Order: sequence, then C-alpha cells, then structure tokens
Amino acid sequence: MKKLTMVSSLLVAGSLFFVSCGNNEGKTASANADSTTTTTSAAVSSAPWGETDGKQVQLFTLVNKKGTQIKISNYGGTITSWVVADKAGGKSNIVLGFDSLSGYLAKPPYFGATIGRYGNRIANAKFSLDGQNYQLAANNGKNTLHGGNKGFDKVVWDAAPATDGTPSLTLSYLSKESEEGYPGNLKSTVKFTLTEDNELQIEYNAETDKATPVNLTNHSYFNLSGDVSKGILGHTLWIDADRYTPVDTTLIPTGELKSVKGTPFDFTTPHTIGERIAQVPGGYDHNFVLNKKGGDMPLVAWLQDSTTGRKLEVYTTEPGLQFYSGNFLDGTLKNRDGQAIPKHGALCLETQHFPDSPNQPSFPTTILKPGEKYHTVTRYKITIQ
Ligand code: BGC
Repeated sequence: MKKLTMVSSLLVAGSLFFVSCGNNEGKTASANADSTTTTTSAAVSSAPWGETDGKQVQLFTLVNKKGTQIKISNYGGTITSWVVADKAGGKSNIVLGFDSLSGYLAKPPYFGATIGRYGNRIANAKFSLDGQNYQLAANNGKNTLHGGNKGFDKVVWDAAPATDGTPSLTLSYLSKESEEGYPGNLKSTVKFTLTEDNELQIEYNAETDKATPVNLTNHSYFNLSGDVSKGILGHTLWIDADRYTPVDTTLIPTGELKSVKGTPFDFTTPHTIGERIAQVPGGYDHNFVLNKKGGDMPLVAWLQDSTTGRKLEVYTTEPGLQFYSGNFLDGTLKNRDGQAIPKHGALCLETQHFPDSPNQPSFPTTILKPGEKYHTVTRYKITIQ
C-alpha cells in the first residue's frame, strides 16, 4: 500500500474534510494529523477553481474503480467533464464542457448545469398561485427559461464532498424569497454519486417556506462518441413514451398529450436521431410523457453510439424527459479541446416535470408546499455494448 500526500483539505459544513488521490487498493480515505493519508478508493478530490460573486469555486473529481472520472463544480452544480471507456479500451469525454471557470462565466447554454428553480419554460414569464400573480424574468423571448436571468446554474453552491470514501458530492443552495420572481425561500440539495456500476445518480431534495413551483434537472449535453464534430445524428435513441407534449412556436406546450404513433416522435422502438429529424421543424426540443411502467425508477430512455459501443441508460422518478437535439448550437462555441461545437454536436436528456406546468392545471403539479419534501432521483448509467 502506498503512502500518499494529502492533496486537498477544506472546511465543509463545519468539519475538516480530507481527501487523497492516486491509488486504488481498496481502503477508504482517512485523514491524519501530519497531513498525509493512506487511501484506496481516491473517490473524491477537490481543487480550487477560481472565484465569482465573492465566493470560492471548487472543482471536484469523482472516480470509481472502473476508471470513470466525473468532474463537478459547485459553480452552477455543473458537470464539466465525464470521462468513460469505450469498447476498444480508449477513453473520452462524453459531455460538452470547459476546463476553466471562465468558460462558464461567459454563459454557455447551460452546459452540464443544475437547472432551477424551474427547468424549462414558463409561458409569458408569469403564473398565479394561491390568488397571487407572480412575474418572472422573461429571458427567452416573452417566456422564462431555466430559472430566469440568474438561475441555479449561475450561482455558487455550498459543497460537502463525501467523507466516507465514496465518490459522492452534495451541493446545497438557498434561493431566497423573490429571487428571479419566485415565492418562498427554497433550500435545495443535489447529491451526485458515481457508483461502481458506472452510474451517476443525481438526487434532488428541496423544502420551502411558501408554496412555489420547483422543477430541478441537469443539463448535460452528451455526445457518446467523444467527438463533437461527428454530431449526434447517428446516435440511436429509445424513449419509453407513448405521448409527448406538442409545443407552440415559442416552445410552450399546447396542453395536449399527443400520441407519438406514426410521428417522428415515436422512439418506442429505437431510431437514429438523424432518421426523421428533418420532419421536426427546428429539431427535437420536446418533453416526452414517460410511460413509467415498472417500479419507482424505471429505465425510461437509452442512447447508443455504435462506433464506440457506449450506451447511456436513463432511469428516473420524474414523469417527463426533455429531448433536446442541440438545435441552437451553431459552431461559435468551442469545446474544451478547442473544437467548434456544431449544430446537433451533442444532445440533452433532461428528466423533469413538464414545461409550463404552473400554467397547465392538467399537467402533474410542480407546486411544493411548506412541510412537503421535494425528492426526485435520476440515474445515468454507461455501459459498453
Ligand atoms: C431547452 C431548449 C434550450 C436549451 C438550452 C433546453 O432544455 O428545451 O429550448 O435551447 O435547453 O438553452
């Protein structure tokens, strides 16, 4: 067993947290007084990653014994990097992202971010609740998108990495009453855990002191080939949804839950994304109504890249999935490796409640009341076929 130098220490939640990295010999991380530690699973480490809003930003690295490595920043609860093996034994990054904080401060379209207080759109940036009208920031035409001007993707979260040797990180953020126009003080926590089954489990919890809409999700853009120039039109997608929510020209659901049968939205049998995308004006950017047969957290979708053999499975407790085919990517942003990110260079599979639910009484409610606990779980699992 190797002796390793402690590489990081930081004050978290009032206690000293120590981690080390570099070996894999099966013992849990431990701290000792002379700043050295022996470890095994090198499960989570952290590094300073700059500063914004007068707060320290950190970049955390979670690794498992399969060699999967996921980096997450407490700026925006952002997954910046997700490196996994392929069938030939190579490794590459399957998400869009940048190596430095400055890339994120330039406001890319939510690369890897935690989205809140409300994922996706609310029509006309307005809703009423308990007899009161609320005006939100109109940051997407006349609508509000992904929490407003400064959503949860643009704030610095408090971070508590696991101290038990597991590759896990818990972030928390208090969104104050009236922030971006929303009612109530909302305390949210998001726990990321990388399992030995190559799953990233994301667990969202929240509580409020006044009724408020809540819809938290993660906005990772995947390209399973690891090469954005190849795009995602050749990826194969399966979604367990017999219905989807059609939208108007501003991408607000019409309220209808429409059958996918005989349409390009039918992914109940696998199809490549490129096969029918030309029949969808603007490309796919739609919420799918998940069938949710089989348990609390069934497999609801999978995505596969046959060239690398990588398959991404999505499991969730949520009723909806936003499949966004990267339609607004246009080659102006560069990925971490300097490669321009073209239209359809990557795609998102965002587990969620339906867009505009606060104005659509027939949709499952997104209103969280005082005394209730918001709790949703999503797992992204990578396998090699
Ligand atoms: C939305 C898209 C939007 C994208 C990035 C997705 O969740 O559905 O319409 O362009 O996020 O902003």
